Amino acid sequence: MAPEVRRETTVDWPALRRAADEVATRAHAPYSGLRVGAAALCDDGAQIAACNVENASFGLTLCAECGLVSTLVAGGHGRLVAVSVTAGDGAPLAPCGRCRQVLMEHGGPGLLLDAGEGREPVTLAAMLPGAFDADELVARRPST
Ligand code: THU
Repeated sequence: MAPEVRRETTVDWPALRRAADEVATRAHAPYSGLRVGAAALCDDGAQIAACNVENASFGLTLCAECGLVSTLVAGGHGRLVAVSVTAGDGAPLAPCGRCRQVLMEHGGPGLLLDAGEGREPVTLAAMLPGAFDADELVARRPST
């Protein structure tokens, strides 16, 4: 398992939520109509955000969290510390299963997810118990 992120980091959840709402306005969602925004605090202190980008070939749709991870990696921002995903209304949206796995690779089980105003954030470990990770690949690598 990847190491837990440091928990003492202060997270400005309202700011993350606002950033998620803001970027959701730029979503390309002509098919579902669901505009999703994802914002994150990274361990280099940067705040990043991304929105969903749909496609006429529906299965090619990119979730907001995928764009978020792409921005994280391309910008060299390190690891994800805290993430808020909204549908532009300030209320958290549960990341889909695929995105939970994508987030796990870049935030680990200790990644904090927004649970909404006045609620304790939840860890990614709680949302994706028993996750498959790189350790599993190493443990199961066939011997040559
Ligand atoms: N969507 C996301 O962006 N993130 C999720 O975690 C769930 C779903 C988007 C994909 C699609 O554009 C729309 O929401 C409806 O599924």
